[in-house]
Amino acid sequence: MKILTNKRIILGVCGSIAAYKAPDIVRRLQDLGAEVRVILTQSGAQFITELSLQVTSKNKVHHNLWDKEAELSMGHIEMGKWADAILIAPASANTIANVAEGRACDLLNSVILASDCPLIIAPAMNQQMYSAAAVQGNLTTLTLRNIHIIKPEIGVQACGDIGEGRLAESKEIAEQVGRLFQNTELSGKKVLITLGATIEAIDPVRYLSNHSSGKMGSALADACIEAGAQVTLVVGNIGIDLNQKARKISTVSAQEMHQKVMENIADQDIFIACAAVSDYSIKNPEKNKIKKSGKNLTLTLLPTKDILKDVCALSTKPICIGFAAETQNLTENAINKMKYKGCDAIIMNDVSRDDLGFKSDENEVIFFTKNFQLKMIKNSKQKLGRKIIKLVVEKFI
Ligand code: C5P
Repeated sequence: MKILTNKRIILGVCGSIAAYKAPDIVRRLQDLGAEVRVILTQSGAQFITELSLQVTSKNKVHHNLWDKEAELSMGHIEMGKWADAILIAPASANTIANVAEGRACDLLNSVILASDCPLIIAPAMNQQMYSAAAVQGNLTTLTLRNIHIIKPEIGVQACGDIGEGRLAESKEIAEQVGRLFQNTELSGKKVLITLGATIEAIDPVRYLSNHSSGKMGSALADACIEAGAQVTLVVGNIGIDLNQKARKISTVSAQEMHQKVMENIADQDIFIACAAVSDYSIKNPEKNKIKKSGKNLTLTLLPTKDILKDVCALSTKPICIGFAAETQNLTENAINKMKYKGCDAIIMNDVSRDDLGFKSDENEVIFFTKNFQLKMIKNSKQKLGRKIIKLVVEKFI
């Protein structure tokens, strides 16, 4: 899996002669696995065509804050939520000043204000402009705000001057964006995650299961790996590819998932129960296909073992995080479930909504501990996964 796989990057392209390099930056980000959407400022459009950026990014280029059609499909608020990171390359002195002052003067600046994702700025301009006290002052302001600046290179400039102000190499810019997602918050820690749906056989061809896709568990695994953890995944039925850096143990039934978790839990620091485990299995599944008889058929269901509860009951237990899928009384059910299972935190999904949860790439959750709760509004599972893991680190590590 590449360093930017599953990452959505907005590339802001400003008015600088270096804008001609923007399609190459798009390509280098894509080489690392990213999906890229471009916002082209009015001045940027003087140096590079929308078409070149549309063809390379394979997405419509965004440029106008007041475009009614764009607002209907993906307006500035939606774009801000969509992005995992915003990169401005090349960044002009004007855009740097606008970002430093928090202006919402155009689409790019509005999206930046409407997003809580990391911002990376790669300035490119004439060496005299770059060294101007106002530009340097604005860059210092941005650095103090934890905005990542990719310093320009020293060399011959388009205008013939020699000095500091040449846009950094496209490959280097893309790699610095990738490195921003890596951290060491879980380095040396072991995390075991269950994910996907369990399958309970009725006969050799039919089964009981549910709609879980494994996407939330997979996003959590990606976030733990980015944070430096050693990740083991105990996987049920899923329809997605998993991070190759994780150790994967495949299971089918709730009983098998329980067994594999118990066999592998001893040295784990964190356990995340994200699988949709069947609460019941079929008593004595038929060895042969059940024939249609035209009469009522009664199946006897037996309760399955509760994996999360059993891990929480271990004498030396890891930090235990559960998930709950509910359709009503979310807060009350979450708190009761946390007590009943004995886990340290529970993450509540509202599965009554069609646009969220099961199968969807998006989710909206509430994170509960005994004395804390935080609603994480609708966003991609990837982004929520990172937020959840950050919170787990903050609360328990
Ligand atoms: O009890 P309920 O299924 O609502 O609880 C949800 C949480 O418990 C999830 O974290 C799920 O992965 C976990 N669970 C489990 N073993 C079961 C049932 C649920 O670990 N048999």
